[in-house]
Amino acid sequence: MGRFAFVLHPVSMADFHRKFGILKHLPDHWVERGFRLIPPWVGSEISGIVSSTGASADGLFVVLPWTPRVLMETPWPETLRRLEQAGRIAEARGAQILGLGAYTKIAGDRGVSLNERLRIPVTTGNSYTAATAIEGALLGAERMGIAAAAASVTIVGATGAIGGACARVLADQVGELVLVARDAARLGELAEELRDAPAAVRVEADLKRAVQPADVVICVSSAIDQILEPTDFRAGAVVCDVARPRNVSAALAGTRDDVLVIDGGVIAIPGQNMDFGMNFGFPPRTAEACIAETIILALEGRWESFTLGRDISARQVREIADLGRKHGLRVAGFRRFERALAEGDIEAIRSRAENARGRRNSW
Ligand SMILES: NC(=O)c1ccc[n+]([C@@H]2O[C@H](COP(=O)([O-])OP(=O)(O)OC[C@H]3O[C@@H](n4cnc5c(N)ncnc54)[C@H](OP(=O)(O)O)[C@@H]3O)[C@@H](O)[C@H]2O)c1
Repeated sequence: MGRFAFVLHPVSMADFHRKFGILKHLPDHWVERGFRLIPPWVGSEISGIVSSTGASADGLFVVLPWTPRVLMETPWPETLRRLEQAGRIAEARGAQILGLGAYTKIAGDRGVSLNERLRIPVTTGNSYTAATAIEGALLGAERMGIAAAAASVTIVGATGAIGGACARVLADQVGELVLVARDAARLGELAEELRDAPAAVRVEADLKRAVQPADVVICVSSAIDQILEPTDFRAGAVVCDVARPRNVSAALAGTRDDVLVIDGGVIAIPGQNMDFGMNFGFPPRTAEACIAETIILALEGRWESFTLGRDISARQVREIADLGRKHGLRVAGFRRFERALAEGDIEAIRSRAENARGRRNSW
């Protein structure tokens, strides 16, 4: 049996409040400052993961109680020291690989230094996150009647680890690829790398202009605030928001019933009795894609740093997607702002979008 560990952290104050209700009554910055001083701890034991091949795995969550803001504002040597403490807990509890959650791999060098310090390999989970973001977005497009080969796809945060990986894979599959981020030089480098791809690739500095005409939008920016509003999307668009915290305003759920917004990276984990031992805001037996990558490697017995750093190749994305399928992991249907979308919901969104476009064409 393989054994893994995964470092979790609160992505918003709501995560603190879910765990320690009393903290709702304190100012957020007090809570953040207080928990910054507390070392990582074991959040729970994870049990009962059984692959469709018969392989099994168990593991543990190690909690670092830092919000994205704290992780981004703390000097890197101090953050690295805390991550090393988390890694030592994992080693002492018998883990053979360590996965990094959300901002624990955005702060600093995306796992590289931590991997050098620990005896067990570290993986960021970003290859499988990219694989499942692409799978979810293209599945959503199909359901909305959008043909991938002709689609215009915008990647928000295209120069990041996940965004770059999505771009490298999608450049072979879609009609047009629009790359957005703030650093123009890095965008230019990525566009140059993809210049011979089948898709027409272009960069766009203006976020709203990049998103407005898109058939499909994949949101993978590390912006701490929500950067996309309900009015930013065209009727009938598919928006896969993988970012945590989200890039898309929650106001969209109540105001745009003609846009298919899906949460990226919600993965069903195999094993009838599998139990994460804690509530981290997901339905039972499902997890974020980055956790899933660590689980796949544990089921496969691949004790290696599968994903580190910013540059992730299309090959890595395809390989981890194949391994995920081999072990019975899969995208867990569609969810919109953490609520399951039923079959009929998507049909209704599609028909409202067609009506909205019909009305516009008849003006
Ligand atoms: N759901 C999941 O399973 C899962 C798993 C892993 C990660 N994530 C989330 O995915 C997101 C991306 O992670 P990553 O590791 O790829 O991050 P990353 O490597 O730091 O890349 C972030 C990207 O966002 C861009 N960006 C930052 N602020 C922006 C803004 N205000 N407007 C436009 N672009 C902006 C950055 O470029 P510039 O700085 O040039 O703008 C860069 O292209 C994070 O929110 C992370 O928490 C989710």
